[in-house]
Amino acid sequence: MVELRDHERKTLLAIEMLGGKASAEGLTSKSGLPHAAVMRAALTLQEKKLVKVEETRQTVATLSSEGKLYAKEQLPERRILEVLRKKGGETSISNITKEVDIPSGAVSLALGWLVQKKWAAINKQKQTVTLTKQAQTQKPPKGSDEELLELLAEKSALVTEELDENLQQAVATLKRRRLIAIKERRTYELELTREALKLIEKGLEAEKEVTQLTPELILTKKWRETKLRKFDVTAPGPAIYPGKIHPLQQIIQRAREVFLEMGFTEIRGPLVETAFWNFDALFQPQDHPAREMMDTFYLASPKAGKLPSKTTVNAVKKVHEDGWTTGSKGWGYKWSSEEAKRLVLRTHTTAETVKYLSRHRKPPIKVFSVDRVYRNEQLTYKHTAEFHQIEGIVVDKGVTLRDLMGTLKTFYTKFGLKKVVFWPCYFPYTEPSAQAMVYHPKLKRWMELCGMGLFRPEVLAPMGIDCPVLAWGGGLERLAMIDLGLDDIRTLYGNRLDWIRRTPVCQ
Ligand code: PHE
Repeated sequence: MVELRDHERKTLLAIEMLGGKASAEGLTSKSGLPHAAVMRAALTLQEKKLVKVEETRQTVATLSSEGKLYAKEQLPERRILEVLRKKGGETSISNITKEVDIPSGAVSLALGWLVQKKWAAINKQKQTVTLTKQAQTQKPPKGSDEELLELLAEKSALVTEELDENLQQAVATLKRRRLIAIKERRTYELELTREALKLIEKGLEAEKEVTQLTPELILTKKWRETKLRKFDVTAPGPAIYPGKIHPLQQIIQRAREVFLEMGFTEIRGPLVETAFWNFDALFQPQDHPAREMMDTFYLASPKAGKLPSKTTVNAVKKVHEDGWTTGSKGWGYKWSSEEAKRLVLRTHTTAETVKYLSRHRKPPIKVFSVDRVYRNEQLTYKHTAEFHQIEGIVVDKGVTLRDLMGTLKTFYTKFGLKKVVFWPCYFPYTEPSAQAMVYHPKLKRWMELCGMGLFRPEVLAPMGIDCPVLAWGGGLERLAMIDLGLDDIRTLYGNRLDWIRRTPVCQ
């Protein structure tokens, strides 16, 4: 004997009333059950071999807002054509822009369509448009694209599979012109099986099932006679999207945790820094290309900030000019305190570690920061104008490049990255300098992850430090990309709800 739940019984009866076969939508309105309940019943009835469920996918076209506008006012090329016919077949492009009320950016696109449809030719030199002979003698008939627009204005949505070949081609063209939007729709049809028909003939009786155990049922001992509904924990339920921490924030937290585990202390500094901490204290000459407007966002107002103590400023100035006490020759130019006062959105968090050194001189020191920086970069799959850096320093007697590589290797290993290599490289403030490269398994290529090195004497002497300082700073988003399997960094900042929802809270 097949056991039936109330919803299943209602669904079966509704299918029968609709002739033995019905769509999920039809059943929803017939049975009065919610759509999700019908779908759940469909699933369990299918398991009980009482219904067959057939899924069909259809693509549905609707007008975009621009499409709606053109459906009302006709395609811009058609309107230009009409102007041309009124003007005797020829007019200047500037005239068209004046006469036809379409955004000037859209005019050249519309002219392109006039040419493609062989309605008109353009004379680039004279900047004029002339009707073709064909269009001159006879008004061009409506194209399939125009027909489709009209149909859509009337019906608001069309199943593209049901259109004729010409209109299907028009779907492709209008989609490319972004005048229509295409969505996939899945529909489900439920059909009664022979067993179901037999069952219905015998008369369907649903057992009264109780879905919720109430205090009353317990007190009156009625629960002994009632049938409690079984839970199917594997049945799909409606998707629930609870609030959760953004995947990037989770990675920031993890980076923090790893450094804390490794015995580091966190430091933080302001997003707006003086060029002094961002550049000068790091022995970057005032005419260094990285300081140019191209890379750095300078503040328009206020323009200038405060410099630290005179002693520190003078030492940095001397180091830049002639090397001061360091034995270096410096950069050999006249250092300007005005340039150093300029305020910038910090371009790296090394500004914070060097500032920390100016105030904490006693080794051992192990500090880190995971914080935001800004650079005026072209946006690409691997660059954004704001991002986060993982920064840190270790100050102690006798530490070497080997310790630095070990520290970073440990950090990345704890993050789950196996293939890390170190490569020699250059920074104005470290010697030796290196970078950590890591392998991105999805992109199948090596990526730069982190710059590093030992701060030069020109950086350390003005801060009053006389033992080696290991320093590094690297991108966090690239780490996030590898961790989350992304091939485009912009996903992290794009408010892509679907992606945020899909990304698990715990990995
Ligand atoms: N500040 C460098 C960058 O932003 C990284 C770096 C930090 C290099 C510390 C060496 C030492 O790329």
